[in-house]
Amino acid sequence: MRKLLFIPIVCMAIGAWAAGAAAPGLPDLAKGKQTAATVCVGCHGPDGNGTAAGTGPIYPKLAGQHSSYLLKQLRNFKAAEGAVERRANAIMNGMVAALSDEDLRNVAAFYASQTLKPEVARNRQTIDLGRKLWRAGDAARGVPACAGCHGPAGAGIPAQFPRLSGQFADYSEAQLKAFRTGERANDPNSMMRVVAARLMDPEIKALADYAAGLR
Ligand code: HEC
Ligand code: HEC
Repeated sequence: MRKLLFIPIVCMAIGAWAAGAAAPGLPDLAKGKQTAATVCVGCHGPDGNGTAAGTGPIYPKLAGQHSSYLLKQLRNFKAAEGAVERRANAIMNGMVAALSDEDLRNVAAFYASQTLKPEVARNRQTIDLGRKLWRAGDAARGVPACAGCHGPAGAGIPAQFPRLSGQFADYSEAQLKAFRTGERANDPNSMMRVVAARLMDPEIKALADYAAGLR
């Protein structure tokens, strides 16, 4: 008799604990969608694939990107000036200023849940160079293979390494140059700054175009 009473009480206690523990961890996709549709849509599009009007490839695609990576970037944009993890960008610093951390989690999860529209590599002449550096790097100059961190097909590895496949080439090119000058310095352990410092302009262009075409 005692045993029969005891079991349901323990189950209820575990249930309540699990519900309490899980609730703050679950992003609200509907709320994220609403933020996307009201604040982000003009530059990143309703589904994170950019806008039909083509506001231009300087605005990255967000669709299908790892949620944890998107959230990190949003927090980095929101970080105080002077903070080591800050990602400085006049537009994005302003965009996230009024959003709570919960808003950021929701909108990151929403865009991550959207389907990425693939791109194609546009420059036939540089595909071989892009592929070679992507897959093997250049040991003589200390350039590591991009595939080592971003994956052979550019899908990235959550949580640390972003997806690069299907991204606008112009955006990836701009980011590689920003890492090279140190203008973007939110990469943990200077991982990307070290890589980009060893790349020349034509290599950056080739890599950005090659990565766009990966799928
Ligand atoms: C007025 C245009 C504009 C709006 C609106 C905008 N963004 Fe951006 N976003 C940009 C630009 C430009 C960049 C590239 C910043 C850079 O070059 O470092 C960017 C970059 C990002 C990145 C980094 C992506 C990556 O791959 O590293 C994320 C995440 C992002 N935006 C999310 C959002 C979210 C979420 C909203 C809405 C709350 C939003 N943006 C609204 C222009 C915009
Ligand atoms: C040692 C691991 C590592 C290697 C090797 C590496 N990356 Fe990265 N890369 C990263 C990390 C980590 C980030 C995200 C930094 C952050 O958190 O902001 C990143 C970010 C990027 C971004 C910005 C993505 C975005 O959405 O803004 C580009 C572009 C990029 N890498 C290109 C490359 C290319 C091209 C190569 C090869 C030449 C390469 N990476 C090699 C770790 C690596």
